Order: sequence, then structure tokens, then C-alpha cells
Amino acid sequence: MTDRLLKRYSYSITANDFMSAGKGSSAIKSNLKSLGIDANIIRRIAIISYETEINIVIHSFGGKLHCDIYENKIVIISEDTGPGIKDVDMAMTEGFSTATDSVRELGFGAGMGLPNIKKYSDRLEINTGSTGTLIIATIDL
Ligand SMILES: Nc1ncnc2c1ncn2[C@@H]1O[C@H](COP(=O)(O)OP(=O)(O)O)[C@@H](O)[C@H]1O
Ligand SMILES: [Mg+2]
Repeated sequence: MTDRLLKRYSYSITANDFMSAGKGSSAIKSNLKSLGIDANIIRRIAIISYETEINIVIHSFGGKLHCDIYENKIVIISEDTGPGIKDVDMAMTEGFSTATDSVRELGFGAGMGLPNIKKYSDRLEINTGSTGTLIIATIDL
């Protein structure tokens, strides 16, 4: 019964919308707070969801961010349409980024998103191809 989905929060994320970037992940954060989830778990999920959200904004054509709550785990799912991640091993390397200069001028593109998503997840699945990317990050409760 521990795999029964209790609640799902979903947000649409628009490519290149830097004004709204971060709103989905901050809504997830406040929803988890109101559910009384442990502060350290919320901190990890906030990082994971923010970084996946920003990656949709910067690197894809747009997509969705979901936060699925189970009795024993929280799963952050990022799904986008876009060019996909060319080389996943490279993308997981600290400091690696394909962000353009104009994106870097806005303060993004440090190349720490995926390494931190990995660091703060208990399990991470990345499914990517030439039409888009699906990321499933699991945090055990
Ligand atoms: N959703 C995505 N779609 C396509 N490429 C992505 C996506 N997320 C990450 N990437 C690729 O992986 C690289 C590393 O991601 P990340 O560690 O978050 O660094 P940054 O976002 O600062 O470039 C990105 O520069 C990009 O090339
Ligand atoms: Mg990033």
C-alpha cells in the first residue's frame, strides 16, 4: 500500500519565461510545508524541483513539473519537449553547461543543477532523447 499516490501537485513550465521561473518549485515548497513534511526533506525537494524547473525554462521548449506524494516517498517528475540532453554523463559533471551567454548574464548556467539534483535524490532516473527529457527524482521519507 505504500505505493499508493496520495497527492499530486502539477505545474506547467514555459520555456524562456524568466519572470515566472521558480514559481512551480516555490509552490511545491509551500504545499509540502502545509503538509507538515520534515524541513530537511523539504529543503532537498526545493533544490531538486527548482533546478529541474530552471532546466525546463533554459534548455527545453516547455514542460511540466510534478510533485507526487506517497506514504513512503516524494517523487519529483520533470517532463519536457525539447532537444534532450546530448550526453548525460557530461551533463552530470559539475560545472558543465551549454547555457548561452545571455542566460548566464541572468545568473543561470553554472552547471550545478544536475549534480545537485543527483546529490539530493535517493534515486534519479533520466530518460532523454531528441524530442524531450523525463527526469524522475525520488526522495524516501
Ligand atoms: N531539460 C533539459 N533539456 C535539455 N538539456 C538539458 C536539460 N537539463 C539539463 N540539460 C543539459 O545538461 C546541462 C547541465 O545541466 P545543469 O547541471 O542543470 O547545468 P545548467 O543548467 O547550469 O547548464 C545543461 O547545460 C544542458 O546542456
Ligand atoms: Mg540547470
